[in-house]
Amino acid sequence: MKPKLIKTSKEMSEIRNRISSKIAFVPTMGSLHQGHLSLVDTAIEKAEVVIVSIYVNPTQFSIDEDLTEYPRDLDKDIKLLKEHQVDYVFFPDDEQMYPQGFKTWVDVEDITQILCGKTRPTHFRGVTTIVSKLLNIINPDLIFLGEKDFQQLAVIKQMVSDLNFQTEVIGCPIVREFDGLALSSRNKYLTAEGRKRALCLYKSLLLAQNLFRGGMVNSNKIISQMSNLIVNAACVIDYIEVFDPFSFEHLPELSPGCRIALAVIVDNTRLIDNIEIR
Ligand code: PAF
Repeated sequence: MKPKLIKTSKEMSEIRNRISSKIAFVPTMGSLHQGHLSLVDTAIEKAEVVIVSIYVNPTQFSIDEDLTEYPRDLDKDIKLLKEHQVDYVFFPDDEQMYPQGFKTWVDVEDITQILCGKTRPTHFRGVTTIVSKLLNIINPDLIFLGEKDFQQLAVIKQMVSDLNFQTEVIGCPIVREFDGLALSSRNKYLTAEGRKRALCLYKSLLLAQNLFRGGMVNSNKIISQMSNLIVNAACVIDYIEVFDPFSFEHLPELSPGCRIALAVIVDNTRLIDNIEIR
């Protein structure tokens, strides 16, 4: 019966080695929402076998972050994945992923130290380490990741290229609520009132898009107007950055195809979002 549930790396690798058809992989930390499920649905379209991992990876959280509170609901996740016809769910525990004596890290340089990496300097090292472990265990043809974590997507693409993983990385569009809030497992932390104020992330990105369409190109001026909107919603800016989507270099002026990304703290919840300027 689908999905088959797998807890150990050994069993996952053994099953993988018996599959000769195209495999798509969606790594997650569970608490699945429509954003994850859209990745799953795209994966199903592109491959014969779909594997989803659920693992709240402790090494991508720093000690003052929300590892213990991070929402977990394995039964609900499995029910959703069943409805979406996923073939395998790999949900290892910490002992499987980081057995005693674990000493090896995968660390992508430079692009992990900007944007989110400034306030979360060890975050991406945790992400690339766990994703490389999962890629080694599952060896999928395709891996699907959401563009909401635009920097994570770029970091993983870099790692896959640098380390010759035989996997194609596919980025999928951000899924939003009816009012524009980007779906995130961390939205669960928001109060009803905080959720309303959290709309300032998307509203500020749309403001930037509209200012650009109205002829304004200066990044500082646009960032300043975005900042006002966010501060007026009583939220705290971690960063707002205009950058080239490939090199991640800061751009003093907006142009079609550039990205604007931001991280904002709403009450105690840090949320991220981004947009491609068109
Ligand atoms: O995006 C996430 O949910 C996580 O960072 C990932 C890619 C599953 C690695 O733990």
